[in-house]
Amino acid sequence: MAESREHNSPTSPPPHLVQMDALDRDDMLDYFTRAESFRAGAAADQRHAGRIVATLFYEPSTRTRLSFESAALRLGAQTLGFSDPAASSAAKGEMLIDTIRTVERYADLIVLRHPAEGAARLAAQVASVPIVNAGDGGHEHPTQTLFDLYTIHRRRGSLNGLTLGLTGDLKYGRTVHSLALAAAAFGVTLIFIAPEPLQVPAHLRGRLEDMTVVRTAASLDGVIDKLDALYVTRVQRERMDPAEAAALGPPHALGPTDLRTARDDLLVLHPLPRVTEIDPAVDEDPRAWYFEQLADGVVMRMAILDVLLSGAAPLPLGGGAKRPPPEDPPWRESPDAKGMTCGNPNCVTRRERGVMMRTISRGGVRSCAYCDWCVEPGRAVHSSR
Ligand code: NCD
Repeated sequence: MAESREHNSPTSPPPHLVQMDALDRDDMLDYFTRAESFRAGAAADQRHAGRIVATLFYEPSTRTRLSFESAALRLGAQTLGFSDPAASSAAKGEMLIDTIRTVERYADLIVLRHPAEGAARLAAQVASVPIVNAGDGGHEHPTQTLFDLYTIHRRRGSLNGLTLGLTGDLKYGRTVHSLALAAAAFGVTLIFIAPEPLQVPAHLRGRLEDMTVVRTAASLDGVIDKLDALYVTRVQRERMDPAEAAALGPPHALGPTDLRTARDDLLVLHPLPRVTEIDPAVDEDPRAWYFEQLADGVVMRMAILDVLLSGAAPLPLGGGAKRPPPEDPPWRESPDAKGMTCGNPNCVTRRERGVMMRTISRGGVRSCAYCDWCVEPGRAVHSSR
């Protein structure tokens, strides 16, 4: 597994789960198998007794935080953390990397949810314990994806030849971005069903088109009958400026009428919380699977914690020694991005002090190494010199 590959040397960098593209198909299938074994009761051995999992949630959460804590407890680990940044030193202006360099001395693994895009990648650059991205702004949410895909795989037996429809907020929906990338890695056909202002960002669409068949539709009409799974999401108003939010009409609410032409074995999923985008009358439909799948989230998060905790050296107590600095610290300017500022106002490089822009290249396209926005002249990244 790329970022989550096991390691045993205390001097090698810890494995993390930060972005979907660090996992290939085999890695994801391996996670499905591990989750399945926890479903069958493999946790009874309390295999991570004595370990500590920290949950640092700078944004609201019900399911992600509680299911991670439930998963940790079921593995015998204990948990600590905060769910309200206003009650942490973030309220005093502490930088994220300083919080990470503190909590890594208290816990064996950190589950992080943060409003800035690329925050988990930044944390992974400085942390000596595994970082799990539990959602970074409107960017990615890989652990939600692993269990969304696991649910589809379990119900269908395979992901081969499937068609997945994604609807709601495809622009800011981090669950959509991670799920689309992971499903595309399996060659799943993607249909993005949303009005233009809520469509998938161009830079992500470009990546997906290199991987699989991608279509768009303005509404479910004439599309729903072609789907194996329909992923419905909430409009992320908290990520929009007021004018953008005001310009949007009320979202379409999926209702029993929409499902009339859908297949009997369609899977309707939603990462939750549901607000108005699914009529509660749909909950009774046997194709509605968004509450049934929640248990998949616990066993998948057990699998994730198990892989990462098994690979990480136990927390050294006693201390006193100065840690070696990270090999590639975020405050060192990299030649590839000299003088550049990320064009994404929500990128962690623009929200956190002292973090320098970096770029990566995929298939000849350069992007911000934190938030994945494209670095093309005149498009997303500005030169400040
Ligand atoms: C999602 C999230 O936080 O991105 N929820 C979740 O983790 N289950 C979706 C949302 O908030 O709309």
